[in-house]
Amino acid sequence: MATSRVLIGGGTGFIGSRLGELLIRSSYTVTNVSRMPGINNISWTDLECTGLLPMTNAVVNCAGQQVMDLTKKWTPGFKQNVASSRIYTTKALAKAVNTAKHKPKVFVLITGVGAYEASPYCRYDESSAITGKDFFSTLCKDWEAAADIKPPVRLVIIRSGVVIGRWGGMIKNMFLPFWLGLGGRLGDGKQFLPWIHIDDLCRMIQFAIESKIEGIVNGVAPQVITNEEFTQAFARALRRPALLPIPELLLKFLYNPERARMLLTGQYVISKRAEGIGFKFRYKTIDEACKEVARLYPLKLPLTPTSSL
Ligand SMILES: NC(=O)c1ccc[n+]([C@@H]2O[C@H](COP(=O)([O-])OP(=O)(O)OC[C@H]3O[C@@H](n4cnc5c(N)ncnc54)[C@H](OP(=O)(O)O)[C@@H]3O)[C@@H](O)[C@H]2O)c1
Repeated sequence: MATSRVLIGGGTGFIGSRLGELLIRSSYTVTNVSRMPGINNISWTDLECTGLLPMTNAVVNCAGQQVMDLTKKWTPGFKQNVASSRIYTTKALAKAVNTAKHKPKVFVLITGVGAYEASPYCRYDESSAITGKDFFSTLCKDWEAAADIKPPVRLVIIRSGVVIGRWGGMIKNMFLPFWLGLGGRLGDGKQFLPWIHIDDLCRMIQFAIESKIEGIVNGVAPQVITNEEFTQAFARALRRPALLPIPELLLKFLYNPERARMLLTGQYVISKRAEGIGFKFRYKTIDEACKEVARLYPLKLPLTPTSSL
């Protein structure tokens, strides 16, 4: 294992960089595919021209323009960027894998539970159909279809819930208002919020690389919660009140109704397969996950390799 390489599309991002740390601690060589130059980076053009680097054992795609980048307006151009940053990066990596002379063992794609249509009633697991009826579900269909990986390379698609980590995603956006005691549920707070702690997601990706699994795995923690339950858990962990709900109309006005819908609706998702394949979560409850991220100072805790999976 010592010299085997993992190529990570979007390896500079919130999930990709934490994954890189974990893999390096586990003695892999990590190379990112990025739009930016960097010591461990190659560009998407390099990938297209020269293909996979020698000793590439696994390829992971964590690339994608942030949907909830609230500094960007929800325009047709931005939506196109959200879609193409996922579909074209996946296509580029899949092509490099399929045309490689020395093939990697596995391609792991990180998509989202938004693949399942939001609903207060439906219960989803990995066997549930994805309908492609709303923006994100349609995008997930095309995104996952772009991972047209030919055997013998294994394809694993992890449909991740909202990732709970101190350095990015939802927690980064919410930390300051909650820390100031200005937090609150979104809308009526009854929408489901499938979630996973970032370290568990990275361990699940490493598990996918090192085991023999194939197909879809929902990357969600065992405890199913609503937005209200998350709000209370995060406020408790920070020892702050969370008494200021953000009204639905305000979110729709600020962020565009289509994007606000992703905050105001959710889906009940479980990971039947995680248990079946023997994956063990370290953060099973939202209280445990929130406690870990409720730190004002951004001290990074080391991530233990997955030998203890
Ligand atoms: N965070 C979550 O809660 C969550 C939940 C479910 C699924 N996901 C999925 O996981 C993936 C990674 O999420 P993240 O939170 O790590 O996001 P992130 O921190 O924004 O990182 C995404 C990476 O994608 C690359 N990227 C952005 N726009 C791009 C573009 N137009 N073309 C090519 N590459 C682009 C960037 O790399 P460079 O700047 O180096 O090029 C960036 O580092 C995304 O596809 C996201 O949908 C995330």
